[in-house]
Amino acid sequence: MQSQLDDLFSFLRFPSISTAPEHASDVLECGQWLKLKLTGMGLSVKLHETPGHPVVVARNEHKEDRKTVLIYGHYDVQPVDPIELWDIPPFEPVLKDGRIWGRGSTDNKGQMMAHVLGVEKTLKEQGELPVNLIFLFEGEEEIGSPNLVPFIEANKSELACDIIAVSDTGMVARGVPTMGYGLRGITCCEVTVKGPSCDLHSGCYGGAVANPATAVARLVATLHDAEGNIAIEGFYDDVKPLENWEREMWAQIPGVSDQDMIDQTGAPAVFGEPTYSTAERLWARPTAEVNGIGGGYQGEGSKTVLPAEAMAKFSFRLVPNQDPSDISEKVKTHLEKHAPAGVTVEVEVGHDGKPYYSDPNSVYGKAGQIALEKAFGKQPVLIREGGSIPIIKDMQDILGADSLLLGLALPDCQIHAPNENFWVENFEAGIEMNAILLKELAMV
Ligand code: BES
Ligand code: MN
Repeated sequence: MQSQLDDLFSFLRFPSISTAPEHASDVLECGQWLKLKLTGMGLSVKLHETPGHPVVVARNEHKEDRKTVLIYGHYDVQPVDPIELWDIPPFEPVLKDGRIWGRGSTDNKGQMMAHVLGVEKTLKEQGELPVNLIFLFEGEEEIGSPNLVPFIEANKSELACDIIAVSDTGMVARGVPTMGYGLRGITCCEVTVKGPSCDLHSGCYGGAVANPATAVARLVATLHDAEGNIAIEGFYDDVKPLENWEREMWAQIPGVSDQDMIDQTGAPAVFGEPTYSTAERLWARPTAEVNGIGGGYQGEGSKTVLPAEAMAKFSFRLVPNQDPSDISEKVKTHLEKHAPAGVTVEVEVGHDGKPYYSDPNSVYGKAGQIALEKAFGKQPVLIREGGSIPIIKDMQDILGADSLLLGLALPDCQIHAPNENFWVENFEAGIEMNAILLKELAMV
């Protein structure tokens, strides 16, 4: 275990924050370190430059009559702010209380390293792998993978595979192996509401012209009804209805009761579409979220100002069979139609990703379930995920292969937040699971 932990710690020390231009060289150096590690395992490795951060592809010697397994992961991480809330420097990982602490420890370097070390373990023990392997590791997942789709399209034949394995999702609770067979999609946008040409004295002008901050609040309030149903025309049109087997299966799954939600989030109560359970709301229903809202004076004390403009950032989580561009059109139409009097409303559509769905009980799905069961000593639960990994659906479309979502993150891993951490027990089980997975997939 020590050398495996050393590998992960070395990997975690690179501040590979993909969104920050000043960290571009750190992302590159992290990719180069990865190349070195994979080369040392006897794989043939290429670091491909892109207009953004590099893609690292590694493979063993492929033979005919063997299954080809593509393992995807990302070596970029989220920014660290608010830095003052971290108990340790985010890129100086430590092992404490059974967990590895540091930015990227779970999302995604720890889970990704479990893939790498499961392969390394197999190579050390068997001398070779039972499958044709392709590692596809990118440095831009946290910024929406802008260069990966073109890369996959351009290298379609080299990346051709039977099945994809990805550990970049969650487990519902400690000790409960979890396989995902769906992911929500996403579309983002930003709205700018403009009123007067500059900030105004709210006494001299207030009451005579519209206040953009009030207008933003009114606009935000049009997205839902009071019960939490989304009020955008046509928003639910293409939503694939939940099937009974899913509702029954999810009702038995631990970690997603209303009380679990309250415990995990610290919110005083659960809230959402009335006729759905928490699990259903998270895994099979779309959302409209305000990610940020602002305008006007935010400093201490009061300032009697009527702000010239105000803004809000939105993201919409989508489920099969909603289409991100269709939804962003509907959102735009809705926001423009509901523009309050006396202001102008501009909507800028941002990045997006399609939702993903596959059959958890396909032959490959079964192999994934067996690998989880053997590694964790317990039958896995089958879920869809609330989060998004847009490339998964793109790979299904371009390469024609499904993904086994073999998540190792726990609800208390604090991904994207201060004090991100990864349970050592999941790192160990993940390594084991990957070694078993290769054997199981070889037998399909
Ligand atoms: N690993 C996460 C996605 C995730 C987390 C899926 C937990 C399921 C459970 C991934 O790195 C991520 O954060 N994705 C973004 C995608 C967005 C930037 C396009 C997300 O879901 O917000
Ligand atoms: Mn991730």
